[in-house]
Amino acid sequence: MRAYVLTGDADSPLELRQVPDPEPGPGEVAVRVLATSLNYRDLMIARSGRSGVVPLSDGAGEVIAVGAGVSSVQPGQLVCGCFFAHWPSGRITAAVHDGALGGAVDGMLAEVVVLPEHGVIPAPRGWTAEQASTLPCAALTAWNALVGGQPVRAGQTVVLLGTGGVSVFGLQLAKLLGARTVITSSSDEKLARMEPFGPDATVNYTAHERWSDVVLEETGGLGAELILEVGGAGTLAQSMRCVRHGGQIALIGILAGTSAKVNPGLLVSRSADLRGLYVGSREQFAEMNAAIDQHGLDPLIDEVFPFEDAAAAYRHLASQAHVGKVVISVGSR
Ligand SMILES: NC(=O)c1ccc[n+]([C@@H]2O[C@H](COP(=O)([O-])OP(=O)(O)OC[C@H]3O[C@@H](n4cnc5c(N)ncnc54)[C@H](OP(=O)(O)O)[C@@H]3O)[C@@H](O)[C@H]2O)c1
Repeated sequence: MRAYVLTGDADSPLELRQVPDPEPGPGEVAVRVLATSLNYRDLMIARSGRSGVVPLSDGAGEVIAVGAGVSSVQPGQLVCGCFFAHWPSGRITAAVHDGALGGAVDGMLAEVVVLPEHGVIPAPRGWTAEQASTLPCAALTAWNALVGGQPVRAGQTVVLLGTGGVSVFGLQLAKLLGARTVITSSSDEKLARMEPFGPDATVNYTAHERWSDVVLEETGGLGAELILEVGGAGTLAQSMRCVRHGGQIALIGILAGTSAKVNPGLLVSRSADLRGLYVGSREQFAEMNAAIDQHGLDPLIDEVFPFEDAAAAYRHLASQAHVGKVVISVGSR
């Protein structure tokens, strides 16, 4: 079978190799990967100089063999890999990080992968592999942000920053939970592509640097109950201006940098929570899939690239011309 391996060269990070088919041992599952999707993290890892590991945390495929003792999945089932191979449930621990696919251990950009039984999960009912490949990192992170702290309640206001993978899932899942939503973007064209998901307000943060004013206007001056903070240090001051008293900022990403001058006093005076989070557990993944099965959701796939042209998918994500998810098709059933 063929697998990509990171070269350590940031300008040309991918090398396609022919390698032996892996066999599942006891408690393991072999999956023929049908589709994978990219996250900003995959760009960071490719740029970091890391080598020798199969990249990408996210993928979905068909179970082709199971090892001794495996009972929860059967050959023929469409499954997603879990971002963390060893985080079934409960609070995250340092040890969980050692099982992060496409970083600490081999990831999904291969024709066949072997994962622990508790590191795979059935895809939502009726979903294609391409759709299912979008879930493990971006969607689960958004779900954890929405329900893993103070769970969002219907009618509350959720703010999404930009139109990348986490934020678009954040918009769709917040609507599914009955929340009001405000989404920002650098581009009016991208904001127009959010219309089918029914955001209650949109704001172009390039034209309106103080986008927090729009959130305050939309909430009668009270602020939002939850902000999915994917910008990090560069956007935190705006998020802190428009978080409601007793609200939460879910600290997810660093798209706008890792250092800036911020005044933590705003959080203190508003008794607001700042909650760092890292994707989510398999149990949270199962809860999210149950919500998707119940209510339906159509993930926004910007473009699908062929396996042989994985490098073009990386370039497309890096260009930030996309909205939602960038997918690589690996095979068909
Ligand atoms: N903690 C976790 O578990 C976790 C999980 C997943 C991702 N992350 C992090 O979350 C961030 C987003 O990841 P992703 O995979 O969703 O990224 P992505 O799909 O690559 O998102 C890129 C988009 O973000 C928007 N953006 C860029 N700079 C921005 C800024 N300064 N302010 C607001 N929006 C900005 C742009 O959209 P517009 O042009 O529309 O503005 C851009 O197209 C990354 O930092 C990633 O490392 C963390």
